[in-house]
Amino acid sequence: MSDPASSVSCMTRAIFYTASTLNGFLADPHDSLDWLLTIPQDEAMADIAAFTERIGVMVEGSATYEWVREHEDLLAHPERWQQFYGDRPTFVFTRRQPERVPGADIRFVQGAVTEHWPDIVAAAGGKDVWIVGGGDLVGQFADAGLLDEIVVTFAPVTLAAGKPLLPRDLDHTRLELMGVRRAGPFAELTYRVSGRAHHA
Ligand SMILES: NC(=O)c1ccc[n+]([C@@H]2O[C@H](COP(=O)([O-])OP(=O)(O)OC[C@H]3O[C@@H](n4cnc5c(N)ncnc54)[C@H](OP(=O)(O)O)[C@@H]3O)[C@@H](O)[C@H]2O)c1
Repeated sequence: MSDPASSVSCMTRAIFYTASTLNGFLADPHDSLDWLLTIPQDEAMADIAAFTERIGVMVEGSATYEWVREHEDLLAHPERWQQFYGDRPTFVFTRRQPERVPGADIRFVQGAVTEHWPDIVAAAGGKDVWIVGGGDLVGQFADAGLLDEIVVTFAPVTLAAGKPLLPRDLDHTRLELMGVRRAGPFAELTYRVSGRAHHA
């Protein structure tokens, strides 16, 4: 007889959904997203809202969590967490104990992503998992063969340096182009990922 829990886990996919500079940076060297936020975001916000409909859980590294917490002043305005994360559980990978946004369902975890994957899938409740970033954490999921899809919205911006999009080797046999879409000044590419990544 099939196990209901395993059929749920089969449906849950890990998706790296992000904006990037044209030359592959998620943020500038000081974690700033000014290069992105100065571009009109109306269409992008609608796209993000549509994407999050199928998301049950968010997963991110501590730099991403702390950037959002500081940028949105979430310790003073915890209600703003809901606007982006809703009620979704958020797994934050960290070896520290960062300050928690009051009232938010945040689960601080550390170590191998494979160790936490069953809990992440269970928390997703049959929906997909948004791997928010940063790039190395996404790479850890790719290393483990757990990354199913990459959706990158490229902005018409380059930076001389910054935080890398995905610092791993994934060759063309692992990345299948599934979609190409224009969204205002952005270009969105969707890839299906198979197999495992390799460290550079
Ligand atoms: N353009 C976009 O849409 C977009 C998307 C995502 C992120 N970003 C930005 O890009 C930047 C990403 O920063 P980042 O590359 O430094 O990445 P990050 O993944 O957000 O944070 C990295 C940190 O997470 C912790 N960590 C990672 N893997 C871990 C593991 N397996 N176990 C325990 N802890 C682990 C470590 O910190 P500690 O152990 O010291 O806590 C590590 O230094 C941020 O500024 C973020 O805001 C932009």
